[in-house]
Amino acid sequence: MTDPISSETHGDIRIIWSDNPPVNALGAAVRQGLVREIEAAEKDDAVNAVVIACKGRTFFAGADITEFGKPPVMPWLPDVVDRIENCTKPVVAAIHGTALGGGCEVALGCHYRVALPSAKLGFPEVNLGLLPGAGGTQRAPRVAGVELALQMATSGKPISAEKAHDAGLVDRLVEGDLVQHAVAYAEEVKDIRPLPKSSERDDKVRNVDPALFDEYKKANAKLFRGDVAPQANLECIRTATEKPYEEGVKIERMKFMELMSGEQARARQYFFFAERKAAKIEGVGEDVTPREISRVGVIGAGTMGGGISMNFLSAGIPVTIVEMNQEALDRGTAVMQKNYQSTAKKGRMTEEQVEQAMGLLDPTLDFDKLSECDLIIEAVYENMDVKKEIFSRLDKIAKKGAILASNTSYLDINEIASVTDRPGDVVGLHFFSPANIMKLLEVVRGDRTADDVLVTAMALAKKIRKVAVVAGVCYGFIGNRMLIPRQKQAEQLLLEGATPQQIDKVHVEFGMPMGPFQMADLAGVDIGWHRDPERIESIRDALCAIDRWGQKKGAGFYDYDENRRPSPSGKVQSIIDEFAARKGVEKREISDQEIVERTLYTMVNEGAKILEEGKAQRASDIDVVWVYGYGWPVYRGGPMYWADSEGLDKIVDGLKRQEERLGDDWSFSELLLDKAEKGEKFTR
Ligand code: 3HC
Repeated sequence: MTDPISSETHGDIRIIWSDNPPVNALGAAVRQGLVREIEAAEKDDAVNAVVIACKGRTFFAGADITEFGKPPVMPWLPDVVDRIENCTKPVVAAIHGTALGGGCEVALGCHYRVALPSAKLGFPEVNLGLLPGAGGTQRAPRVAGVELALQMATSGKPISAEKAHDAGLVDRLVEGDLVQHAVAYAEEVKDIRPLPKSSERDDKVRNVDPALFDEYKKANAKLFRGDVAPQANLECIRTATEKPYEEGVKIERMKFMELMSGEQARARQYFFFAERKAAKIEGVGEDVTPREISRVGVIGAGTMGGGISMNFLSAGIPVTIVEMNQEALDRGTAVMQKNYQSTAKKGRMTEEQVEQAMGLLDPTLDFDKLSECDLIIEAVYENMDVKKEIFSRLDKIAKKGAILASNTSYLDINEIASVTDRPGDVVGLHFFSPANIMKLLEVVRGDRTADDVLVTAMALAKKIRKVAVVAGVCYGFIGNRMLIPRQKQAEQLLLEGATPQQIDKVHVEFGMPMGPFQMADLAGVDIGWHRDPERIESIRDALCAIDRWGQKKGAGFYDYDENRRPSPSGKVQSIIDEFAARKGVEKREISDQEIVERTLYTMVNEGAKILEEGKAQRASDIDVVWVYGYGWPVYRGGPMYWADSEGLDKIVDGLKRQEERLGDDWSFSELLLDKAEKGEKFTR
């Protein structure tokens, strides 16, 4: 293997280069090379300062995650960072791309930091269930201040170079040739002594009000719910305000090791690779090139169509949006404008960016204008006949090579494609609501979808910052298909004696953002309702018949006050009781464990069927769907990983215990039974 670290000298400045594609992760060879080159520069009398820079797309993006869980190879990253800081000559970091995790810690070990304005700095360790373990929790608050360090470490979100510059984390922003500027900067500072060491600064960690930490936690309660890493990050940063640096790093090390050996870190690290694997399409070679998409068409300016359009507009791709009448078109456009405005109000967009995005939108009533588009996404209501009519019209007007996509959540893409003469160009693009916010995109591969159409969809997803997962054609694809048994069991449990509150509580305590009934109330109890108030076959039908359609009507499974705060509803309870009596279901005490077995274990069973039928490429894709589409707690990896951690034999035992109650149309997945028997796992 070639050495990833090399050096060259410009006058009296030594440049240490890292070239370790794809992201300059700080693997063993990089760590060894850095120490070797720092020591060489120190010894060389002709060198007066050092610049550390990276080739390729980014500055060090962190420790090498593939080394986690393997026997450690010296030198350790904390020692490398210390070695850089203790260099007797000034060291300047030249930052481009993303200085993340250990990469940001290396930058903090340097005496100075120069960055391109496009660079980002961050501590994403929390996303891996960890904390910055190479002195980051102690150096960052000393340099950037406690509040910013807390924010970076507990949220995992990177900050812009500009923000880092304002906070003192970057010393100089430069445009153009980064390394040339860094060398010039090194020339300017080469004689300054003492060298500014991040670990020795304490002006920003002295006299910090201890209440700040509790206040931060209160204001960001969501970050801390059920998750151990954010708390450990907070405690380490608090330590930086209470104890000297040397003690702080010892505590940091201890907590890092504690986290690293925990189940949550393992789940999160599994998920990191699961997410990246999801982008890979089985059976499609790397040589397949995507089609060019320079204009997108969207049919339908309702909630979904508008949200979908915003993704492309925000990414700078023009959108032609078509509606049936002017009023609907105006309403849809106004909602998009309003959503952008509220993002701008929160400071996440400038007015200029809002204008730019909306300037790329071409709202029209003229269906034929879709002939200009390279990708056309149909986002009208779920009705096969309507969709077929739209696709046969599209077939006549769309340009050759245009991709024709449906945003259907359940319907058969093959049937939709069958009305066209170009089924290879047809694909499902199932966005999740709100489509401008939710990260998940199910890319539904029809029997005849062309490889380059799939490759285009996956590449485009990345461009609009979605996480895409390939799904096969089946009712509800991956995510919604797994919701069906959960919803069915949840309603049945109501008849048997559980309350909506109890079932929701079990899910929330598990780590889901909300339970099945809270979700139904938010999404609309009436979704998929047959709209006949006389026909009452389920509790849902009964609620819909009396206008309890969820939050939008102020009532659903719960009652809502004017601030949309829920409370248990006596009316709903009497509907449940009446229904149970009518069906002759006897009430009994339902344990929380039974709720887990009947709602979550049945989901796992459905996931196994999806795998068995080849409707998901791999178990980890199912986990990606559930984390990004439904808020499954990432520290539990996803339903399939979680089932593996619980033990598949335990899942099977639980399901066997409940089998009689699961209904006549429920059946075991053969794959689940087989794996449980052989002691195998889905994901490992
Ligand atoms: N170690 C090993 N491999 C890594 C890696 C890392 N830190 N970061 C990324 N990779 C790999 C990915 O697995 C992927 O591999 P593949 O091509 O085989 O699938 C490849 O690099 C490219 O990654 P992405 O597809 O994610 O590329 P993007 O351009 O979309 O994103 C990135 C680049 C923003 C750097 C993103 O990869 C990322 O966020 N990486 C993780 C950064 C991170 O978590 N760093 C902290 C590590 S923990 C740490 O530093 C501990 C320390 O405090 C002691």
